[in-house]
Amino acid sequence: MTHLLSPAEERATSHPASVPTFAVISGAQVQRALGGREKQIVDLVEATYRLHGAGESVNPPSYFLRFPDRPASRIIALPASIGGSVNVDGLKWISSFPANVSAGLPRASAVLILNDHDTGYPFACMESSIISATRTAASAALAADWLSRTRGRPARVGFFGTGLIARYIHTFLAGTGWTFDTIGLHDLSAESTAGFAGYLRTTGAAGKATVHDSAEELIRSSDLVVFATVAGEPHVTDPGWFTHNPLVLHVSLRDLAPEILLGSANFVDDVEHCLKANTSPHLVEQLTGNRDFLDGTLDDVMSGRQAPPTDRPVIFSPFGLGVLDLAVGKYVYDEVAREGQLSIIDDFFHDLRRHG
Ligand SMILES: NC(=O)c1ccc[n+]([C@@H]2O[C@H](COP(=O)([O-])OP(=O)(O)OC[C@H]3O[C@@H](n4cnc5c(N)ncnc54)[C@H](O)[C@@H]3O)[C@@H](O)[C@H]2O)c1
Repeated sequence: MTHLLSPAEERATSHPASVPTFAVISGAQVQRALGGREKQIVDLVEATYRLHGAGESVNPPSYFLRFPDRPASRIIALPASIGGSVNVDGLKWISSFPANVSAGLPRASAVLILNDHDTGYPFACMESSIISATRTAASAALAADWLSRTRGRPARVGFFGTGLIARYIHTFLAGTGWTFDTIGLHDLSAESTAGFAGYLRTTGAAGKATVHDSAEELIRSSDLVVFATVAGEPHVTDPGWFTHNPLVLHVSLRDLAPEILLGSANFVDDVEHCLKANTSPHLVEQLTGNRDFLDGTLDDVMSGRQAPPTDRPVIFSPFGLGVLDLAVGKYVYDEVAREGQLSIIDDFFHDLRRHG
């Protein structure tokens, strides 16, 4: 027996209701959408951490693609899904090739794909090194704020590693109201500290800056220490450098020896993520066989479940969550769409009639 389709069924199988669109968003558009919006982005990152803490996200482990012939390099895939008002799925695909820097190119390059919540169709591909640096810096500024609320605001900042991420973190601290009496700089490369000092001149803060050749001197003279190096293994090992109990933003994750973390209060963005890939917290877990050294997540602090102590250094080690890239990426997409500037690729999705 044959079943004839009704006219409505016929239309549904032969003509999709609407053809999904696909936009490509350039780095220039991303920068225009995010520039000068530090406060909004920090609020967005805070809301995203809260959604993640409430379980309204899917954020599987990052996948590390490594190369035997290029051991210093890697490409990481961060798939994720976030609910709430953002409500989008997607993937960040980010390369780290540290040797780029000596050739005059930034270390990291990235794209972000956004997928529609209802159909799964990808609807945008965007330049994402700026989004990644932005969400990292916004998370660092957010952590600096929350982790210092019960300890007093640091007035002496020290940047340990003065590359691109350090610049973004300074921009986000300054853009969310932080001012400093002193800005310490330390890097293995004099070119990096000179470049960072040049950036500080454009902000009017260069007069506060001092370059420290000694790592110990930088740490001892800073109440807020920002690690943004590309070190693969711990190179700061002496707990004696931290007796003034600074707040440490351990953004590069692998600088500190287990002894330093064991003498400090430790907060992370996500426990399961952070205890992987030989980060310093992962090394502590391997050494002690437990997670007792962890005091909680940033969301625990924001929700009042944990308070950072005053009698020890406080270290924030953020692994970096794909949900943050999605939230910032969707913000950029909405801004570019609102201004009518989306570059839609004609006929990107094609052959959409199931039976031709
Ligand atoms: N946790 C996160 O969410 C997250 C996100 C983005 C980037 N990062 C990390 O931030 C770090 C910095 O990234 P970037 O793009 O600014 O890199 P970059 O190459 O621009 O800068 C890194 C700087 O660190 C310096 N450096 C390397 N080893 C050092 C050492 N032992 N002591 C002092 N200085 C040292 C280098 O000379 C360079 O100037 C990377 O490790 C990256 O993986 C973390």
